[in-house]
Amino acid sequence: MSTSAVFSRIVGSGSCLPSRAVSNDQLAAEMRSRGIETSDDWIVERTGIRQRYLAERGTTTSSLAIEASRKALADAGVDASEIDLIILATSTPDFVFPSTACLVQASLGNKGAAAFDVQAVCSGFVYALTTADSFIRAGRARCALVIGAEVFSSILDWNDRGTCVLFGDGAGAVVLRAASEPGIEAAELRADGSQMHILSAAGNVAYGQVTGDPFLRMDGQAVFKQAVTVLDRSARSVLAQAGLSLSDVDWFIPHQANLRILTFLARKLDIPLEKVVVTVDRHANTSAASVPLALDVARRDGRIQPGNRVLLQGVGGGFTWGSVLVRM
Ligand code: UT7
Repeated sequence: MSTSAVFSRIVGSGSCLPSRAVSNDQLAAEMRSRGIETSDDWIVERTGIRQRYLAERGTTTSSLAIEASRKALADAGVDASEIDLIILATSTPDFVFPSTACLVQASLGNKGAAAFDVQAVCSGFVYALTTADSFIRAGRARCALVIGAEVFSSILDWNDRGTCVLFGDGAGAVVLRAASEPGIEAAELRADGSQMHILSAAGNVAYGQVTGDPFLRMDGQAVFKQAVTVLDRSARSVLAQAGLSLSDVDWFIPHQANLRILTFLARKLDIPLEKVVVTVDRHANTSAASVPLALDVARRDGRIQPGNRVLLQGVGGGFTWGSVLVRM
């Protein structure tokens, strides 16, 4: 390996959504038929979500991840055989094992890359990207595929209106390559396990049975407060690490959980709303997929240009959070 290649750079991106878009009105009508009251007005006012994409039974996290990965490889002009590291962030893996990263590897026809999953819920992509960057900077990989993919609809309690209207399914991927200049300029990952109870899916498969509660449960208000506090601190911390200020950020891509969180955070950080990439209105909260999906949308529609500085942020169950500052 060249001694000058000590940084990593995003050289391609791709994404994939299931084909079925479900509007708030469609979801509300379906829920009402089961005696659960919700409305487009409530969902839009509290979250900014207007629709979500939901996987049909049989559409797996790996199938969405594979499609997103193929697009990212094509965008980067990289052959699957060049990949020597695959990190996939998910909380809804196809199986207990093998990892979903290994399923993606097999489908792409890659042989020999290290492949593993990262479990940091909605912070998963930021965790995976930082891990891949560290591998490349340490000389342990040269070309990584980093994926966030979820079929979150599979762990929702469709009788809990406080959570089931908030989430959607999808996948996003990037190709990260060794480079002589950054690339990833700064990163910070954090967790506070003592806050595990505010967002969890505390079930398990053991002794041939599902034990515990296999559905996602959330204290929405506690998550909201925690998210804006930690993301504000984390954004300032990575900018300081890079010796830059918030005004140097061209595009801000926080985890797409709720439009109110995004706007509140942008205001706290004094980042103009025009610089915030928003996909939560169309995708809802896709957990580990939300940040790479939004990144891919904004690259493909021409907003994010080479040379732009992009601040990516994840936050979610664990409790986990993190930020990555990227020069495109
Ligand atoms: O990726 C993980 C990150 N997750 C998040 O970032 C979520 C953060 N939290 C939130 O986004 C918000 O807290 C929610 C959107 C989850 C909830 O908004 P809220 O303004 O905190 O509402 P609330 O939980 O205080 O509920 C207000 C009312 C309640 O009724 P009462 O008790 O006031 O009569 C709820 O029962 O809204 C009711 N409600 C609903 N009504 C219609 C809860 N869900 C619904 C619903 N439709 N779907």
